[in-house]
Amino acid sequence: MGISDAPVPVARSGRPEFGEYQFNGAMALAKTLKQKPRDIAQQILEQVKLDDVASKLEIAGPGFINIHLRDDWLAEQCNAALDDARVGIPAQQPQTVVVDYSSPNLAKEMHVGHLRTTIIGDAVVKLLEFLGHKVIRQNHMGDWGTQFGMLLAHLSDKLSHNEVAETALSDLEDFYREAKVRFDEEDGFADRAREYVVKLQGGDAQCLALWKQFIDVSISHSEEVYDKLNVSLTRKDIMGESAYNDDLANVVAELKEKGIAVEDQGAQVVFIPELADKEGNPAVYIVQKSGGGYLYATTDLAAIRYRSGTLNADRTLILTDARQALHFKQTEIVGRKAGFMKPEQSYEHCPFGMMLGSDGKPFKTRSGGTVKLVELLDEAVERAAKLLAQRDTELSEDELNAVARKVGIGAVKYADLSKNRTTDYMFNWDTMLSFEGNTAPYLQYAFTRVQSLFRKADVAPTQLSQAIHIEHPQEHALAVQLLQFEEQLAVVARDATPHVLCSYLYDLASHFMSFYEACPILKDDVDSNTRQSRLALSALVAKQLKLGLDLLGIETLDKM
Ligand code: ARG
Repeated sequence: MGISDAPVPVARSGRPEFGEYQFNGAMALAKTLKQKPRDIAQQILEQVKLDDVASKLEIAGPGFINIHLRDDWLAEQCNAALDDARVGIPAQQPQTVVVDYSSPNLAKEMHVGHLRTTIIGDAVVKLLEFLGHKVIRQNHMGDWGTQFGMLLAHLSDKLSHNEVAETALSDLEDFYREAKVRFDEEDGFADRAREYVVKLQGGDAQCLALWKQFIDVSISHSEEVYDKLNVSLTRKDIMGESAYNDDLANVVAELKEKGIAVEDQGAQVVFIPELADKEGNPAVYIVQKSGGGYLYATTDLAAIRYRSGTLNADRTLILTDARQALHFKQTEIVGRKAGFMKPEQSYEHCPFGMMLGSDGKPFKTRSGGTVKLVELLDEAVERAAKLLAQRDTELSEDELNAVARKVGIGAVKYADLSKNRTTDYMFNWDTMLSFEGNTAPYLQYAFTRVQSLFRKADVAPTQLSQAIHIEHPQEHALAVQLLQFEEQLAVVARDATPHVLCSYLYDLASHFMSFYEACPILKDDVDSNTRQSRLALSALVAKQLKLGLDLLGIETLDKM
């Protein structure tokens, strides 16, 4: 129509009678073309060739074009997906993506805040890998800093009383509390703690060995959680704060040299006018304390240099709770000013809200303490086992225990993944373990339905003689849903929002259930071609459910 760069907005239709997709760009062109939107839509209709894809194009309302997809085209796409090992999802243009997630502080036990970053991060990582990207996991553990002075002083006393490190550190919360009490109350202890900090930073061999012992035990606590959660982090993904220690002086020197950091009351600071307060005072970002010590911020600047420079990351994603948003905004501004990353390299802080108890307050134990992740996960499995035992089940005791683990852990993970990460969410055992609604058990159950269908039909998905054909409206609706997988995965990869994939899988399972109700498969009066086609369609559903749940880190089962 003579416009070279007009946008082509095509979106899902809100209602099935409007077709599957809707073009809504005619209204926006009305002004430029000085014509009525419906007239514009009419001219587009006359020229556009969609016969092989669409069964009907129609103008609606003020000038929408409704697109109804053809059954045979849908069937063809579904068959191609079913035959493809990647379920028809092509790889993306590969990028190098650093994902900084989990990153617990080793001075303490991993707490619920680290549950979210660990689970969401691992899902994002798996999806990016599936889409063909080179993913570098970075577990930026908090393994350095002044609090280690007090912890090491306390540990050294315990060891000299013949305790072994594993026992002394079996409960990090208790250990931390004891050390803190001594630090606050015991004569001379605080001084010794400070000495330890100086020695540690100075590279004193004995002190480093003690520190190494401490973090080793603490890492193994985290590994226990990773193991139970079935996440993909390993020791080689650890690049803790201490790893940047030797570079911190260089970072500050470079910032000074470039005139970015200046001295202020003995400290080295960067003033950030971009983030000024209401009165116009620039934000103050400290990179070196007046006593010479470095900070969390300095480490993150060094990390930018390493990730963008050495690792050549096209994208850096960092998953932490939303309270750190300002820190990462400031760090990005300073890092870019310093030239630590190229303009085209991204720095994406992906914040998430808090996990709340059912009282709407931050999640705590009944006595108000931090909830230990390991105990939380064990409780999930116990609760799942109880629920499963109440159901009418043919599973043996061993099978039941294996299923309980997959369902319990799956439920905790999925509850987290399925919520938009930017909001707080309420932790609730009953909803997350329910077999109804957007939950792991519901999706796992939908998957087992397909498995049992094939068991009853006594055929393997690969042995089907008939390809998918689409006739029934529920087959049509299911096929349309199946073909949106690629689009949804792309959104998750772009925004680091696994909840989009969860919603997709939930819709898929719901569409499958409606199809299953409306379209008989194994009944005697169903002809063989229809049966085979419907089995094939079910097989594609199962394939996508499996892939989707795999990417989310949720295990599937054949029976439950
Ligand atoms: N250790 C920090 C915490 O527990 C998270 C670190 C996130 N990553 C980073 N590069 N700062 O809050």
